[in-house]
Amino acid sequence: TWTMAGFRELEIARIRAQVGKGRVICGLSGGVDSSVAAVLIHEAIGDQLTCIFVDHGMLRAGEAEEVVNTFRGRFNIRLIHRDASELFLRELEGVTDPEIKRKTIGRLFIEVFDAEAQKLGGADFLAQGTLYPDVIESVSFTGGPSVTIKSHHNVGGLPARMRMSLVEPLRELFKDEVRVLGRELGIPEHIVGRHPFPGPGLAIRIPGDITRDKLDLLRRVDTVFLEEIRAAGLYDAIWQAFAVLLPVRTVGVMGDGRTYDQACALRAVTSTDGMTADVYPFDMGFLNRVAGRIVNEVRGINRVTYDITSKPPGTIEWE
Ligand code: XMP
Repeated sequence: TWTMAGFRELEIARIRAQVGKGRVICGLSGGVDSSVAAVLIHEAIGDQLTCIFVDHGMLRAGEAEEVVNTFRGRFNIRLIHRDASELFLRELEGVTDPEIKRKTIGRLFIEVFDAEAQKLGGADFLAQGTLYPDVIESVSFTGGPSVTIKSHHNVGGLPARMRMSLVEPLRELFKDEVRVLGRELGIPEHIVGRHPFPGPGLAIRIPGDITRDKLDLLRRVDTVFLEEIRAAGLYDAIWQAFAVLLPVRTVGVMGDGRTYDQACALRAVTSTDGMTADVYPFDMGFLNRVAGRIVNEVRGINRVTYDITSKPPGTIEWE
């Protein structure tokens, strides 16, 4: 019978057979997928693997430090951390279209990653934490109009000049299976149990153009929301939870004064694979508490809404 322990051994043997004495580079994001891929590959080939963490500046609060501490510190994996947030913000200036945001981020990501790989003297293989749902959502269906639901930058062809074969040990797995594999590999629960986070990060949770100020504001809202979810013991019952910064100002009242500040939306869904999703049914007491904290603690936000749309017809992200 099929077990995750068996999959692990089989996959390690497959990686060794594919890679031989070659050198592998892996893009590490701190998410479950790339983390599990990196640790699995590291177990197979040790220091033949180097991870490159391209920090695009659109991560959640505190995440970059955590990635570095975990993979360099705990797992002893060779890791390059490149803070490229200024470049990404500059190139995204004035960009409002969601697919152009994704494409811009995807292109820059590859450019920065490639530059770091060149500094290493190149590699023979590129490892990715691509999952089965990523593969199928990005497929163009033949026999009808060509459809890409959303372009996922972690799937697809490499620029020809990079000339590396792909190592994708998670390509046949769904998210819940990747988590089981991660536990099997001894990866800490706070990483294995982490909610999925999109490659373009907070950029697709800020409808309209992206600025450093907006990112900072969104991070503060997001942090309060996630803190309350953890405190209520709800984190593991939820597939993804996050805040969206709305490009709209509304009137409010605080103390004796009128406010005219930004609105935000909170999103929390249940799902098993991200392909369909239902709204998480928080009780009103919880939502009141979160909204109260956000409006009181995050200057610049005076209205909180809760997104109750399921997928389909909505998507999980707002862009
Ligand atoms: P949607 O919004 O399409 O999201 O319902 C489904 C799942 O995919 C994630 N997502 C992305 N992941 N690059 C990624 O790596 C992307 O461009 C992207 N867009 C959405 C989303 O967070 C959810 O888990």
